[in-house]
Amino acid sequence: MQIFLDSASLDEIRLAEAWGWIDGVTTNPTLVAAAGKNYDELLREIISATKGPVSAEVIATDKNGMLAQARFLSQLGKQVVVKLPCTTEGLAATRVLSQEKIKTNVTLIFSLSQGLLAAKAGATYCSPFVGRLEDQAPQQGEELLSHLRTAYDDYHFQTKIIAASMRHLAHFESAVGIGVDAVTAPLHILEKLSKHHLTDLGLQKFLDDWHRANLKFPN
Ligand code: G3P
Repeated sequence: MQIFLDSASLDEIRLAEAWGWIDGVTTNPTLVAAAGKNYDELLREIISATKGPVSAEVIATDKNGMLAQARFLSQLGKQVVVKLPCTTEGLAATRVLSQEKIKTNVTLIFSLSQGLLAAKAGATYCSPFVGRLEDQAPQQGEELLSHLRTAYDDYHFQTKIIAASMRHLAHFESAVGIGVDAVTAPLHILEKLSKHHLTDLGLQKFLDDWHRANLKFPN
């Protein structure tokens, strides 16, 4: 199971990489725009800041334009996974890229049918947007993850499901419970994964007991 940081901020990526358990990075045009740098320069820096996959999205909306941009992005490094929107043109481009062995991530998935077509196009990953679906109707995002998991398993698709558009820790944990292959989440959610108030309380008691006994750590 992979955990990706959903960010194009180099500061955030370097901070998360230092934790030692981040498996890669996903970006999107909104995140790249917020970073305020040239796209290729930024991607080169992100690629050198992480060892894992880096999802980078095309901006073109026609098949040939997407293919040209995807080929450009993929030559930036072996880690690059080209993100394409789940449109008619995006799915057609994904099919070609899959035949060229270029890794793809079909994004903006909001239905089981879209997820099915992404898998049939040979996508490496698909990204269902849980939070944006649940902004419309509660539970729909989690239901989509669950239906996708069942369909991919039933039909033996190799496409990996990345639960995306996480709004809070509960989204992350339910995605893991459903058995997705990966979750991508912003820094403020990933920061919470290692924390629990009972851990803090328990540690404080251990240390208080130790110091009360006037023990010294052997060295
Ligand atoms: O990067 C794709 C996805 O995670 C975006 O999330 O929060 O903009 O809906 P959000």
